[in-house]
Amino acid sequence: MQVHELILDRHSPYAFLDESIDPAIVRVLFDAARHAASAYNEQPWRFVYATREEPKSYSRILGCLVEANQKWARQAPLLILSFVKNTYTYDGTPNRCAQHDLGLAVGNLTTQASLLGLRVHSMAGIAVGHICESFAIPKGYDIMTAIAVGYSDEVHNRKPRKRMDEIAALGQWNFDSKNPSAPR
Ligand SMILES: Cc1cc2nc3c(=O)[nH]c(=O)nc-3n(C[C@H](O)[C@H](O)[C@H](O)COP(=O)(O)O)c2cc1C
Repeated sequence: MQVHELILDRHSPYAFLDESIDPAIVRVLFDAARHAASAYNEQPWRFVYATREEPKSYSRILGCLVEANQKWARQAPLLILSFVKNTYTYDGTPNRCAQHDLGLAVGNLTTQASLLGLRVHSMAGIAVGHICESFAIPKGYDIMTAIAVGYSDEVHNRKPRKRMDEIAALGQWNFDSKNPSAPR
């Protein structure tokens, strides 16, 4: 049995076609994110986004990326900043699953994007302090990533993956750290 091609063909491109994304498509990407599972149904994810059609907002988000990421991400028609609410609303305690749940939401967004022929490239390389100040992020929320979305303009060279036995063990912790898969 094969993994679905939507998953196998996904990649994080460094080159995007000069093609805008229809606003209805932008909307459906966030709608897909909205439907992800989350601990206590907290839905801790938040997204601030801009398309190239909103040049001022777009530049503001682009300016939040480290230079190396700005170089390629400036071609992407849609840029997103992702955040989490770091406590549970129902009792104010820390939500240790908030980042996990944001990942699920971005996973949904990514799969919906793939279905529509788009590709998604996440970035950890962002100016965290600058973002919190510039966007006046309230206490209790953390910036996580920036995300570039667009139509890929590159051939997908699949990146190496860990072997199955390096990531999944039946019944007990049984991972052979002395025999790792080839370096990237
Ligand atoms: C949370 C996260 C942060 C990432 N940060 C960056 C980044 O700052 N710059 C970059 O070029 N790629 C970044 N990437 C992309 C990864 O390098 C990429 O997903 C990985 O090499 C696997 O390649 P693939 O997505 O094409 O399969 C990031 C990916 C994720 C999920």
